[in-house]
Amino acid sequence: MTKRLYIETVGCQMNVLDSEMVVASLRKLGYELTMDQEQADTLLFNTCSVREHAEEKTYSQLGQLKRLKKQHPEKVVGVMGCMAQKDQQSIFARAPYVDLVVGPGQLQQIPELIQRVEDGERNQLAVGLGRKDGSLAEIKRSHETFDPLRDPSMRPTPFQAYLRIQIGCDKFCTYCVVPSTRGPEQGRPPQQIYDEARILAEQGCKEITLLGQTVNSYKFVDGDTTTRLADLLHGLHKIDGLERLKFVTNYPKDMTYDLLQAVRDLPKVSPYLHVPLQSGSDRVLERMKRGYTVADYRAMMARIRETVPGYAVSSDFIVGFCGETEDDFQQTVDLVKECRFKNSFIFKYSERPGTKGAERLKDDVPLEVKQRRNNELLAIQSAISEEDNQAFLGRTVDVLVEGPSKRAIKKSNQDDPVLQLTGRTHCDRIVVFEGNRRQAGEILPVTIYDATAHTLFGSVVTQAFTLQIAARKPEL
Ligand code: 5AD
Ligand code: SF4
Repeated sequence: MTKRLYIETVGCQMNVLDSEMVVASLRKLGYELTMDQEQADTLLFNTCSVREHAEEKTYSQLGQLKRLKKQHPEKVVGVMGCMAQKDQQSIFARAPYVDLVVGPGQLQQIPELIQRVEDGERNQLAVGLGRKDGSLAEIKRSHETFDPLRDPSMRPTPFQAYLRIQIGCDKFCTYCVVPSTRGPEQGRPPQQIYDEARILAEQGCKEITLLGQTVNSYKFVDGDTTTRLADLLHGLHKIDGLERLKFVTNYPKDMTYDLLQAVRDLPKVSPYLHVPLQSGSDRVLERMKRGYTVADYRAMMARIRETVPGYAVSSDFIVGFCGETEDDFQQTVDLVKECRFKNSFIFKYSERPGTKGAERLKDDVPLEVKQRRNNELLAIQSAISEEDNQAFLGRTVDVLVEGPSKRAIKKSNQDDPVLQLTGRTHCDRIVVFEGNRRQAGEILPVTIYDATAHTLFGSVVTQAFTLQIAARKPEL
């Protein structure tokens, strides 16, 4: 008899990829996916610990399983991912209906752990070692992931995929849980990366996004040969069928000239760079232990500007970090105006147990102040995004069509082939336009007629204009 799996994923792209792997391993055992908790034999929650809010939401969802678990004690409930690694055993106490807790490095054990629960052994725990709980080799091994198992049906779309090139993080920013939840930084062997990319391309994948917490710090040493991200991009660029290559998330200090040259010279590589700045104040950056100054970041922006035509840079910010004054915040505002990011993700500082920030610094900015700074920075960023998007009016851009837009999915008339589609430009701008659902996966020329802060609106250039397209200048 087939079994049913309900899986919910929050957090970053790493988690999305991890869920894909877990689904693949369970499908091999005959599981099917369901969106309905009542129907499920196994319910898995892939969790994030980066901010307290995400954890609270997960605990509240787990709390809501009480009735279901009372009626159907045979259903298996699992918590996986970063919160599993961080809270470990204590999850069983806080959420008594949980049967298994599995860290990001132990996901390959899930089928076996489910079996054990079904055999009557409750409270199965499998997590990686802490950063001081063994030799580096042992710690590294305990956080390794298992990427060869891919399940095309779990990908964001059939023609887009994530590919992990690095796990863990060694930067130890004082606010961040990731070095403890995902363990030491480890680059994957290049051959494995190329093999996986080739398989993805054969499966029809046109866009690959390389993943790593500090993806541009990627390094793999084999004897005398050191492979860096720029080398990988050159290698991946040769794979037939692949049309777009992206990589996230970048660390400002490692945005080398070599890498930027690769971005410039390889047409498949998107000129889109997500490089979190976090704060525009040197005092705050120092307290965050980010390892760079505002001057370093400015120099990096100048390097990008001079090297990569048509570049788009996006960023992350934390407002209200320990000791952040009005003057510090103002410096962040000024830098956002100066750098003109394509977009920014802005977060209120959330103290995380186990980090250096929680141990050594006081979370002393009141919530109202964090909220005000968040709103203010967001408004400034939105105005910049809108202004820069307006520059696209009248221009034609190449869009990789992802599928029906959210609005079209809501309206959902399955019989109508013509509907609102959404896709992205090479520099990661979202474009909405009318088209045929069969066009999903194609790269189409779209002329932009309207623009807001987050979206460009356009219409597909029709066949009659193909000569004009060929003569058109590349998108900048
Ligand atoms: N509080 C708030 N935001 C955080 N981030 C990471 N840790 C925290 C925290 N403790 C943000 C950073 C990072 C993004 C993924 O989440 O901006 O770049
Ligand atoms: Fe969340 Fe960070 Fe873990 Fe991703 S790596 S799930 S962002 S805590």
